[in-house]
Amino acid sequence: MAKRKPLIAGNWKMYKTGPQAAELASGLKSLVSDMMGVDIMVAPPFTGLGIVAEILKGSIIHLGGQDLFWEVEGAYTGEISAPMLKASGCTYVIIGHSERRQYFGETNATVNRKIRAALLEGLIPVVCIGESEAERESNQTFSVVQKQLEEGLAGLTSDEVKKLTIAYEPVWAIGTGKTATTDQAQEVHEFIRARMDTAYGSSVANVARILYGGSVKPENTSDLMAMADIDGALVGGASLDVNSFSAIVSLSIDAATDKA
Ligand code: 13P
Repeated sequence: MAKRKPLIAGNWKMYKTGPQAAELASGLKSLVSDMMGVDIMVAPPFTGLGIVAEILKGSIIHLGGQDLFWEVEGAYTGEISAPMLKASGCTYVIIGHSERRQYFGETNATVNRKIRAALLEGLIPVVCIGESEAERESNQTFSVVQKQLEEGLAGLTSDEVKKLTIAYEPVWAIGTGKTATTDQAQEVHEFIRARMDTAYGSSVANVARILYGGSVKPENTSDLMAMADIDGALVGGASLDVNSFSAIVSLSIDAATDKA
């Protein structure tokens, strides 16, 4: 099995004003400064990107956008483009988060356009997929995830797919305190990797980083990260607190060491 360096990413969603984001970023920067063997990313709201980028200069923490629009520039009021994220210091961008799909009409087709725009600018897309509670209850988890992958990644080459990070976030586990069991998460991660193997070959599937997201907290990190196909976490609520986020980072490093 290829050794994949874990990524722990904090999605701050619509929390933290600029000054609050600055405070959180400063706290994190000092707490994780000596943590090695893991990639760390935080995605503040757009209004916090500038100040957080300034604070994270010289730190090991990467910066990400929470979304982007696929055009480079133009009359698109309220939107942010890939070059704008890049110029703000981002190296990652979250795409297709279930909250974007649920509240803002994001579809697999828009996800596809956004992935292409991000890749053109050299940003690493963190592509979110996952089933709703109703879909899980009606045994559609695998078909939903497969469709999101097939349509979201449609037309991309193996070399492009190799650059992506996938985040499996079961919608019913987001912000609810209900985490998928380690077996539930692992079985979907394994399925995603198998689909990628079929579609793009083992050289892509073996290196593809697949994150789990949905109520990740220090208490469940070690068990989740010990699973063979879970390569990190996309953390919401627990990323808003310096102590819990840095604990998740630290526990993930231990789990990755044990797995190696
Ligand atoms: P919570 O960790 O708050 O459940 O959010 C997960 C998530 O949506 C990360 O993108």
